Parts: sequence; structure tokens; C-alpha cells
Amino acid sequence: MPAPNIDTIVSLAKRRGFVFPSSEVYGGLGSAWDYGPLGVELCNNVKQAWWRWLVYERDDIEGIDSSIILNRLVWKYSGHEATFNDWLIDCRKCKGRFRADKLVDNKCPSCGASDWTEARPFNTMLQTKLGAVADDDPTALAYLRPETAQGIFINFLNVQTAMRRKLPFGIAQVGKSFRNEVTPGNFILRTREFEQMEMEYFVSPTAEHSKLVDYWVEQYLEWFSSLGLDRENLYLYEVPKEELAHYSNRTVDIMYRYFPEREKPWEELMGIAWRTDFDLSTHSKNKLDDEGKRINPDSTEDLSYFDESTKQRFYPHVIEPAAGVNRTVLAVLMDAYSEKTNDKGETRVILKLSPQLAPIKAAILPLAKNKPEIVGMAKAIKRSLQPVLRAVYDDTGGIGKLYARQDEIGTPFCITVDHQSLEDEAVTVRDRDTWEQERIKVTDLAEHLQKRLKPYPVAPPETI
Ligand code: GAP
Repeated sequence: MPAPNIDTIVSLAKRRGFVFPSSEVYGGLGSAWDYGPLGVELCNNVKQAWWRWLVYERDDIEGIDSSIILNRLVWKYSGHEATFNDWLIDCRKCKGRFRADKLVDNKCPSCGASDWTEARPFNTMLQTKLGAVADDDPTALAYLRPETAQGIFINFLNVQTAMRRKLPFGIAQVGKSFRNEVTPGNFILRTREFEQMEMEYFVSPTAEHSKLVDYWVEQYLEWFSSLGLDRENLYLYEVPKEELAHYSNRTVDIMYRYFPEREKPWEELMGIAWRTDFDLSTHSKNKLDDEGKRINPDSTEDLSYFDESTKQRFYPHVIEPAAGVNRTVLAVLMDAYSEKTNDKGETRVILKLSPQLAPIKAAILPLAKNKPEIVGMAKAIKRSLQPVLRAVYDDTGGIGKLYARQDEIGTPFCITVDHQSLEDEAVTVRDRDTWEQERIKVTDLAEHLQKRLKPYPVAPPETI
């Protein structure tokens, strides 16, 4: 049973230190969220799992970390300055402003009227100014990147030559992106500042691009299930031609059931696009248009690729799986949410996070906090585990309360130190999901936990 709605997660997230509303002491900043002690661990674990899966476990992907602020010309030639728009309309009755494509039945979501102004474009790139310049100096204008992808395209040749790569190969990047969303909302689902995990997979222009889109869709479905997402809560959406971005020949969105309580429960978790050779050629100095004119007179580089085997030079095509860290975190939290009733008839929340994602892997709990030998042993166990896994020590309540607290934040193992531990040098390890307990020697504890914390296996990649 996943969470019944996003609000359940908002309240759990605030209560237990995953996510707080940002700038709360000044009344908040609509749609901005801060990740607390457990939230930052969960985000880091998602990003690390992704990086390990793509960059370490495969042989065909390199990682980079490019700047957030790039030369403005990047956004001119990528098409973002001209086309990265939302279409806005105003309600003539209540003066509310909305995205034209999000209206239901053409009715104003505030007052129900249907009297609209003409739709007009609004560029959603967030602007900033570089250097100590006059307010109206247009040369200082810069953008906070709306996608991490462009930082990869402009580094294609650097990575390819430095790492001596041959096609096909990919470049992965994780980092912040910014969009001046007109209607942010639904917790961390749509915010103006968010994190992306993007990978650009470069292939020959004669590769079977549509099959490669299907391949990456399958790979990501596997990966999401390794993070604990139920396949039933994922849905594939083939984006219709008229909705495709300017660079895409085909896009498949993986949707998640973020709104189980609604008639339309799905929202995009990520997209997998065949971006053609649009980006590499648009940033290249040698690419000519149909009339033989350079399409980019500002570029100083040619981002084409020379294929040694065919002795041909071309602009590679790109298959791009683009995922959001925050939307993955929200999906993972919703899917992990469950409730269980104990012998006394009390209902407990259990966050059944995949062990690799759990913010805390083991909680060490002394059964008698007024007994110095037990407390000392528990603290020593915590210290000994810390180098290999994230462990905490807690003695701030009775054992039932301590177990409940750890279940609610998804800690896979609670380790209790009791009177007998002083005699037999063993502790009780309690499993979060089954509440079963077993006795383990302290000397075997780290190895025992590490074995049980292993990530769910992801199928090895098929060769492309
Ligand atoms: N480079 C392609 C690209 O950026 P996108 O579908 O616009 O494609 C990719 O974004 C992913 O980034 C989305 O599927 C979503 O997970 C995440 N994302 C996009 N806008 C977001 C926002 N305003 N808030 C949170 N996540 C967002």
C-alpha cells in the first residue's frame, strides 16, 4: 500500500526531518523546500545509486560536472532563448494568471469563469547578471541552466578525446537546474530549483534510434524497481508528435502514480528522448544550413566525430534519459510508505525504503540507559560500525518508541544491547519489515549487516 496522497508524505517529511518548507521564518517562499538531515541522506543515496549504476557498473559511460552558468550563446543556439516558453493566459474576471496547457475544461481554476486573454509566451529560464554592471547593461545577462544536458553537449569533444572514447558511449551528469515555473506546486514535484540526473548517449546517425529509446526505457524500469518502486505505479507515455520538444524525434515519459487519489493519477517522473544530432550540430562552427550558410557563426569548435572504421565524419545522434532527483525521491517515499498494526492494535508507519536508500542503516539502542556498561557497549558498537555504514545511537525513549521512530524513517535494522550482551558479546538485530529478531555476535555484526544491505540487483546491461 503506497502513500494515499502526497500530503501524507509532506507531513511525515516535515515531522521526521526529511524536507522542510524553505524560508519558513519569513512565511516561506512558495514552492521552495529545504532537505533536512534525513532528506539530504536520501537524496545523496539516490544520486549515488544512479552514478554507481551508470558510471561504475557500465563500461560505456563517463561522468562530468559542468558549470551551472554557461555562456549565454549556449542557450541561444540550443533554442532555449527562443522556445523555452510556457504559454500564459490571464482570467479577465479574477485577473489570475495560468498556464494555457494546464486548464481543465477551459475554466479558470480560481473563479470558474471562461473569459481569457490571448495566450502569450513566457520564457522560463531564470535570469541573472554577471559582474558589477549597470542594471540595464544587456551584455551582463546570463541564465541559470534549465537543464544539465547542454553542459554535456558542449563538452562532448573534450570528453571523447580525453577519454579516447569510440561510439557508442554516454556522458552522465547530476546537478541543479532552474526554471521560472509559472505554476510550481505539489511539494517537491514542481519547483523552480531542482536537481536532474541526465545522461546523453551518443550513437551513430545510422543506429536504430527508436530501439535504443526502448532499451533505455527498459533499463530505467529495472533501475526504478531496484530502488523499490512497484511496476504497477509506473506507466509509459509515448509523447505525441505535436507535444515533442524542438530537438526530439521521439520521447517516452516514465510516469509515476503521484496522485493515487485522483482520476488522473500520473505525472512525469522522467523522459527518454531521441534528441537527434540537433544539439551537437547547432553548437558546431562547420554545420551548414540548406542554403550553405553556417548555422552557428559564433562557435569556434566543430563537435563532429570521425569514425575510424568507416572513415566518415558525422554529428552523432543522442538518446537522452533525463530524470529528476526530487521526483525520484518523492516516488520512492510514496512507494515505501506503509502502515502496520502491532499486537496492541496500534497502527505504525513503516517506511520500507530499499536498504541502499535508507538514510540510516542501523540504530543502536541500549535496553537500559541507566546502566553504564550497556550504554558504553552500545556506543562502542555504533563507533565501530560508522566507518562501514551510517549508524546512530539513541537512548531517548522506551524501546517500543525507539523502534517506532526508526520504522517511520526507514531504518532497516535496530540493534539492541541488553544485559545478556555483557555476558555473551552478542546483540539482537531487529528487521524493520518483519519485526523478526535474531541474535548476532558483535564480532560478526558489520559483515552480517553489510550482506543484508546489498542493493537489490539490477540486471547487467545488454551490449548495445
Ligand atoms: N534535458 C531534458 C529535460 O530537461 P525535462 O523533461 O524538461 O527534460 C527532465 O526534465 C526531468 O527533470 C523531468 O522528468 C523531471 O523529473 C525533472 N524536472 C523538470 N522540471 C522540474 C521541476 N520544475 N521541478 C522538479 N523536477 C523537474
